[in-house]
Parts: sequence; C-alpha cells; structure tokens
Amino acid sequence: MASQTRSILSLLTIPLLLSLLAASAQAGSIAVYWGQNGNEGTLADTCATGNYKYVMLAFLTTFGNGQTPVLNLAGHCDPSSGTCTGLTSDIQSCQSKGIKVILSLGGASGSYQLTSTSDAQSVADYLWNNYLGGSSSSRPLGSAVLDGIDFDIESGSSNYYGDLAKSLKQYSSQVYLTAAPQCPYPDSYLGPALQTGLFDYVWVQFYNNAPCQYSSGDITNLVNSWNTWTSSFQVTNIFLGIPASTDAAGSGYIPPNDLTSKVLPAIQGSSKYGGIMLWNRYYDLENNYSAQVKGSV
Ligand SMILES: *[C@@H]1O[C@H](CO)[C@@H](O)[C@H](O)[C@H]1NC(C)=O
Repeated sequence: MASQTRSILSLLTIPLLLSLLAASAQAGSIAVYWGQNGNEGTLADTCATGNYKYVMLAFLTTFGNGQTPVLNLAGHCDPSSGTCTGLTSDIQSCQSKGIKVILSLGGASGSYQLTSTSDAQSVADYLWNNYLGGSSSSRPLGSAVLDGIDFDIESGSSNYYGDLAKSLKQYSSQVYLTAAPQCPYPDSYLGPALQTGLFDYVWVQFYNNAPCQYSSGDITNLVNSWNTWTSSFQVTNIFLGIPASTDAAGSGYIPPNDLTSKVLPAIQGSSKYGGIMLWNRYYDLENNYSAQVKGSV
C-alpha cells in the first residue's frame, strides 16, 4: 500500500517537475513589432511561428490635438477603405495561442501630440471604443478586442502621456500598457509617463544610441544602461529592445551568438528582466533571428 502510494505520487510529481523545469528554462519572452512592411507575412503567420508572446501592431501614426486618428499598417491593408477589419480573425487566432496583441501609438514618423488632459482623455475614449473593450460603428480592426496599448512616442512633447495612461487604466485595469523608450535615461518623450508606474512592460530601444548600446562585441555601454533602467524606476518587466538584423536600425545590432553568449548572461540576473523586443517582424523573418535565440531568451 505504501509503495503503491509512493509510485502514484511519483507519477504525479514527474510531469509537475518537468513543467517547472521548462518554465524556469524559458524565463523570458520575445516581443515583436508587426505592421510596417507588407512583405513580413500575415499577422496569423507571425503568431503561428510560436516565437513571440507579444505582438505590437505598428502604428497609430496620427492622434491627438483633435485630429482624426489614422492607423498605418503599410501594405497589409487600407484602413480608409475598411480592409483592415480583415485582421479580426488573425488577431483572434494570435490571442487563442496566448499571445497578447497590442496597438502601438506613434513611431519614428507621424503626426501626433497631446495638447491637454482633456485631449488625452478623448484619445483614451477613442482607443477604448475603437480598439479595446468599448464599441463604435467604425472599428478599424473590426470586432477583435486588443489586449493593450503601446506607447512608442518619438517626437513632439512629453506632456499628457501620463494622463493618457491613467485614462486607459481607468477604463479597465486589464488593459496592458507598454512603452518603447529609447535607451538614454530618462527618455525625453516617455520619461514622465513612465513615472506613473502604470506600465506593465517596457521594451527599451537599445539601438541608434551609441552611449547605451552594444558595439562590436563591447557590451559595457549596454549593460550600464540596462542597470540604470532596471534600478531607476518602478516597472516589473523590462525587455531588451534590439534590431532583428543589421538593416533594421542604423546601429546597435547584436549578432545572435553575442546575444546568447555575452549580453543575455549579463542582464538575465535582474529580477526585472522580461525578455527581448525585436524591431521588427520583417527583419526577423529576413534574418531568422528569433528562431536562433529563443532557446536562450
Ligand atoms: C532558423 O534558425 C533555426 C534555429 O537555429 C533553424 O533550425 C532553421 O533552420 C533556420 N531557418 C532558416 C530558414 O535558416
């Protein structure tokens, strides 16, 4: 009887141990931007790779200051003629795999700015009704309910993005808020918003900025900057944002071998390490980057 109990216990324990081991070996995840190149494959195909946990739809390029918001998904679809509603089933297919699909605001070029607290509130209302849990007769992506909003603010002023974050979280604490600041700390555009402590995931862009990026095998600047980010402000999960190929950014590309043998071991000890962010799906497809590194992330 005793030995029978023991063997039943061990039958139950082995799968549990294996799943715990698998979870600890896969401590981080990969986030990727999709939407700025028509030749990067569909959103559903992107999610079907199994390489990503977060996919940011890039970008809502126009918003704020009373402007009618504009979604730009390059060659994938045309929001003005309503063809992006075809993405609803792709978004749902991603979500059924446990992947979070997030709308990214801003980008390196675009026409966006927030001019007051009430302007921030009206952008939040628009986002809630058109992309999140609210309702509107003209949802650009159809009935799919996105998981959150990403702030990739790279121009204009830093004012009122904290108000936008607060208004979005007031609609629902379930809305994920993420941000993509550049690595010089604090970020010129997102610094004040990040101080709200409302952001769930922050993917810092460790590229196009020599003082805080990897350079020809030297990880010093990157690791110093990583340590500043992880020690300086309140956010649970910080991701290492990097270009997915040499073409993806002006500088800061890390060859896969250097990422896995030098960079990741130097940053994964941080309790705030969440994984890596790749700019972007097109370059990742071209360079097969995520497939090569995901076992180490
Ligand atoms: C991408 O990398 C993975 C992992 O190293 C490899 O198995 C696969 O064959 C590569 N794919 C291509 C198209 O090179």
